[in-house]
Amino acid sequence: MVHSAQDIATFCKKKGFMYPSSEIYGGLAGLYDYGHLGTKLKHNFERLWREFFLSLDDNFVEIEAANIMHENVFKASGHLENFVDPIVTCSKCDFSERADHFIQAKTKTRHEGLSPEQLTALIEKHKLVCPKCQSKLKPVSVMNMMFPVNLGTGKGNRAYLRPETAQSPFVNFKLQYELQRKKLPLGLAVIGKAYRNEISPRNFVLRQREFTQAELQIFFNPAKLNEHKYFDLVKNYKVRVLSVSDRKEDQVVERSAQELLKTGLPQFYVYHLVKIQQFYLDVLKVPKEKLRFYELDEKEKAFYNKYHFDIEIELQEFGFTEVGGLHYRTNHDLSGHEKVSGQKMEIFDEESSSKFIPHVLELSFGVDRNVYSLLDLTYDDDKQRGNIVLHLPPQATPFFCAVFPLVKNKPEVTAKAEEVFSLVKKQFTCFYDEAASVGRRYARADEIGVRYGITIDFETLEDNAVTLRDRDTTQQERVKITKLLERLSELY
Ligand code: GAP
Repeated sequence: MVHSAQDIATFCKKKGFMYPSSEIYGGLAGLYDYGHLGTKLKHNFERLWREFFLSLDDNFVEIEAANIMHENVFKASGHLENFVDPIVTCSKCDFSERADHFIQAKTKTRHEGLSPEQLTALIEKHKLVCPKCQSKLKPVSVMNMMFPVNLGTGKGNRAYLRPETAQSPFVNFKLQYELQRKKLPLGLAVIGKAYRNEISPRNFVLRQREFTQAELQIFFNPAKLNEHKYFDLVKNYKVRVLSVSDRKEDQVVERSAQELLKTGLPQFYVYHLVKIQQFYLDVLKVPKEKLRFYELDEKEKAFYNKYHFDIEIELQEFGFTEVGGLHYRTNHDLSGHEKVSGQKMEIFDEESSSKFIPHVLELSFGVDRNVYSLLDLTYDDDKQRGNIVLHLPPQATPFFCAVFPLVKNKPEVTAKAEEVFSLVKKQFTCFYDEAASVGRRYARADEIGVRYGITIDFETLEDNAVTLRDRDTTQQERVKITKLLERLSELY
């Protein structure tokens, strides 16, 4: 059953996943709050992300850093100069929009990475005018997307809200490298907020002004770019890529990791493409055909990247949409910080007896886009059941199970149900619901993705067993209470 992004947004508000922030005052464009269920889903995504990516190496750790950063951080990173978006404005009214998105919507072709002059030429070529008042549009200009903040009362205390979490590991690198016994590769992960003054925030939580990123910066010896100690284990694994050379056919090609090396990509990079795909397919249970890696060409790549594939998930209304990326940032950032801060970022690597500024491979994920994708992929308006079913994977869904006493006015039944509830909630996310008919309770549970319903009925008092109902198949099985935790663990 096809659904729109608006269906998802309406559903998310109705159930308490996400909704506009400051809404009692009319809301603010590009800012959203997470409700009680959305927060759980988001935290589950973050937990799974941590468990998976931090376990790739013993030397990968997480740090938590300030969101407001020194102005010089962004001089060094290049954001002050380059983190700009093209903007198109009307010559008469207050219309303004991101120019490449505006042209893309009108011409149905991607125009990322073009210069303001090229975008202006396209506007003229396609005779595009202001969609609000039909007046002529001004030549395309650029706008820096960072939010400046003034600290305290004095002048000269300008700082910025970080536009990417990545800069936090870069400015922490030297200290963490020393604290972690001067060993490479070193992974520094941050899950936290990033802020961008998007010209036209849109598509619900997909383009916001404040959002969460989960990023892992891996600092490594550039001489080892073409190796990874576990590459042999993944060499035959097939990765779904849409390379620049395959763009005309618009065909995703499944290439083994080994074959990808022949296209010129380094081993260290390809190994992590594999790991990212495994995370999506094995952990988040994203259907294979819904995932692809989209290679960006020279003009589309972020200004700091040498190799750049976007991670894309196919969404119902928006088609393949970027949810993250694998970025080889070289020593762009550390060199910049060395120049501007005057502090040496060069290290002496004992293992190779050499001196160098480490290079960085960045695994970058937009948490909100991933949360939205999980909802979009699993939202099912099941006409037969007469309710929505969220087929979220067991480890991500807000509640793995729910306990339902068949009736609420029989103390023996409710006492048993409470006993089962205290047993199950020790190990699994679980809630207790005794309101309305059991059919209604199953429907409510389906709607928020509860994977298993556990019903306690009169028979339970006789046989000490409960009914386990599977959200996806609606099939039921009888399980002894003594075996319940074991059975749920098998199903988790
Ligand atoms: N550190 C690299 C970096 O920030 P990016 O491609 O600009 O790279 C990474 O952002 C991810 O952050 C994107 O793939 C996307 O999932 C998410 N993201 C970026 N801008 C966003 C926005 N305005 N709203 C929500 N998510 C966004």
